[in-house]
Amino acid sequence: MEQEYTLQIENLRSSFLTDNGEVKAVNEVSINVPKGSIVGIVGESGCGKSMTARSVMRLLKYPGKIMGGSILLEGKDLTQLSEKEMQSVRGGEISMIFQEPMTSLNPVVKVGKQVSEAAMLHQNISAAEAKELVLEIFRRVGISEAEKRYESFPHQLSGGLRQRVMIAMAMICRPKLLIADEPTTALDVTVEAQILKLMKQLRDETGMSIIIISHNLGVIAELCDYVYVMYAGRVVEEADVFTLFESPRHPYTKGLLNSVSALELEQERLETIPGSVPNLRRLPAGCAFCARCAYAMEYCPEQLPQLQEVAHGHRVRCHLVEGGAANGEE
Ligand SMILES: Nc1ncnc2c1ncn2[C@@H]1O[C@H](COP(=O)(O)OP(=O)(O)O)[C@@H](O)[C@H]1O
Ligand SMILES: [Mg+2]
Repeated sequence: MEQEYTLQIENLRSSFLTDNGEVKAVNEVSINVPKGSIVGIVGESGCGKSMTARSVMRLLKYPGKIMGGSILLEGKDLTQLSEKEMQSVRGGEISMIFQEPMTSLNPVVKVGKQVSEAAMLHQNISAAEAKELVLEIFRRVGISEAEKRYESFPHQLSGGLRQRVMIAMAMICRPKLLIADEPTTALDVTVEAQILKLMKQLRDETGMSIIIISHNLGVIAELCDYVYVMYAGRVVEEADVFTLFESPRHPYTKGLLNSVSALELEQERLETIPGSVPNLRRLPAGCAFCARCAYAMEYCPEQLPQLQEVAHGHRVRCHLVEGGAANGEE
């Protein structure tokens, strides 16, 4: 049977066009989200994860711009839509949850009203019907005393409750795709586990697709079916979650995984990857990871490795898996 995709990002390029030149934050990125699946995007801070998500929503902060590629939502190319058409996609067909719920909620409006207004914006329903819908979804996302919370202002709620409100807001229009950008980063581990479980449950109940963005591989392991690893604006490895954790091939992915296992063993010093993400203004012509890579070869800084399929659905961008530089030409 042919695979149905909710979202297909193809060769997406998004940049910041600054006075000092182009910052290639998203560089030839292709990501597929099969219907009903949870797809993870993982990588250290500054690798272009949020920029990828914001490109899908067409909500790039100035001076960010989509430079090329396509973003197909059930076959419809979002890069070609007018701003007006895009507005009905946002919050209707695609919802996004941001890292810090406080910045996405209006501090002076009661949360119930905010969510019911979102419902009324996209559906032809009365205020009373919207309120009923909101109370129902509040209960569904585990907000206890829904009626009381409905009348609360954002600052009167805990971080966990605020994030549940954001999830309720994202779910209220039954989106085809939910994009969650670091949705649990500001929360403690217990609340984090509850929120992750909730997202999985909503996927199971509604059949929607989810993209979850995180710098935390533990979160990814918990939730995802398929994972994309991003480094310096590019996808460097992609695989189903089992393969990625059992047989990672890219030295960067291995490094990320090592820091997770160090954490699990409660070692005092977390074994992180030495060095940091390079300045996207001054990327080498070749592999952007080579300066931090223990296995870097002479030609790695010069020649860009291509994404190579090493097993069905498992792709790696590294000269180590190519067996030489011969395939390195762009
Ligand atoms: N206003 C800006 N001008 C230039 N570069 C920017 C701007 N905002 C973000 N960037 C760069 O874009 C890159 C990608 O950022 P982002 O997508 O937020 O990364 P992530 O979500 O993976 O942490 C970062 O390296 C960052 O330095
Ligand atoms: Mg981010």
